[in-house]
Amino acid sequence: MYLLNDRKLLLCVGGGIAAYKCAELVRFLTGAGATVQVAMTGAAARFVSPLTLQTLSGNPVATDLLDASQDATVGHIRLADEADAVLVAPATADLLARLALGITNDVVTAAVLATRAPVVIAPSMNVNMYSHPAVRANIKTLEGYGYSVLEPDSGELACGWEGQGRLPDPEDLADGLAACFVERDLEGMSVLVSAGPSREALDPVRYISNRSSGRMGYALAAAARRRGAAVTLVSGPSSLRPPRDCSLIDVETAEDFREQMLDRAVDADVVMMVAAVADYAPTTVAKNKIKKGDAQMRVEFVKTPDVLSLLGERARRPNSVLVGFAAETENLAANALAKLQRKKLDLVVANDVSRKDGGFDSTENAALIIDRDGKDESTGSMSKDELADRILDRVVALRQPAAASSAGA
Ligand code: CTP
Repeated sequence: MYLLNDRKLLLCVGGGIAAYKCAELVRFLTGAGATVQVAMTGAAARFVSPLTLQTLSGNPVATDLLDASQDATVGHIRLADEADAVLVAPATADLLARLALGITNDVVTAAVLATRAPVVIAPSMNVNMYSHPAVRANIKTLEGYGYSVLEPDSGELACGWEGQGRLPDPEDLADGLAACFVERDLEGMSVLVSAGPSREALDPVRYISNRSSGRMGYALAAAARRRGAAVTLVSGPSSLRPPRDCSLIDVETAEDFREQMLDRAVDADVVMMVAAVADYAPTTVAKNKIKKGDAQMRVEFVKTPDVLSLLGERARRPNSVLVGFAAETENLAANALAKLQRKKLDLVVANDVSRKDGGFDSTENAALIIDRDGKDESTGSMSKDELADRILDRVVALRQPAAASSAGA
């Protein structure tokens, strides 16, 4: 996650059973290139050892507001001032109440009250405690202070109950922190993204597909959501974990992509067709498994619908932006421009898929981005997360002229 690279993060750990997950979280954050300082409540230090978090973060852990030696190295004001962002996880009912009231009787509450950095709160507790009006009211108060609150996940809870109360996974907590470092310039917008490969069946057990992992589309969906959009992700089969808080529609075939994307595009402000949709599908699907036979076998294919072209022809929301991708192995710029014009796009993102260091099934990518006015930009090789934000910057820029003129009207 490039947004966390070189950031100074303060992790404030509360005293709930989910505190054990903070060990993995610290590893995840340092792995993303962040410097992590940890502060713990007294109860948190009984659930997970400060030594564990000190070893994993590589920094001393603050546990005691009134300890003179700690105050010299990890005093609450220093922690508060040095942080680029603060995460409180797990935020117990008690910790939420103290934060809401501004009670600073330990190093965690004192640091949170003292910081001027963005604060992310991740509550985690028993489902009945979470739904209690006192907890709801405290969360509302904290939101009123400008803190962003990450809703807990639902599922089996350590206390034996089922329901909402689980601390989100480290990836999702990190994503909540990453959102502190982007502008919410897609707030109020609806973004539709397709991702992953399509699968076209040959018989009940075999299919034709491609090497798309879905990473670029998933990265765009996550980036759009961090920037405030309501995101729908139409995905072909992918092993990736879906980004949090996106509405996920699972599909398989080119026909499925056509149906879902065309249905939903009318309500979207931004439509991004990232999926590697098969251009051809077997003419017929055998009812039974095809048996081994002659030395050679022929399969007849029929052209699939070009979903992106259909989207380009359709009536769309005023000022909406249609983004297509172009996977090329030669004449990158000319082929990409031809696709932009032929498919009536606002923006095309072209990849040279013959490169070893990017494109399909890779974590990195380099792209040539061309907009409808011919303005082009060649990005160097970068993570798909970062490229996603670069693409969204261009989307936002394309929406701006009309937004500015309607504001002036
Ligand atoms: N696309 C689509 N429906 C298809 C094939 C492709 O919507 N049946 C979309 C892709 O999601 C991508 C864009 O069209 O956004 C370009 O895909 P690409 O494979 O690069 O090009 P094609 O249009 O298939 O043309 P060619 O294979 O000849 O390069």
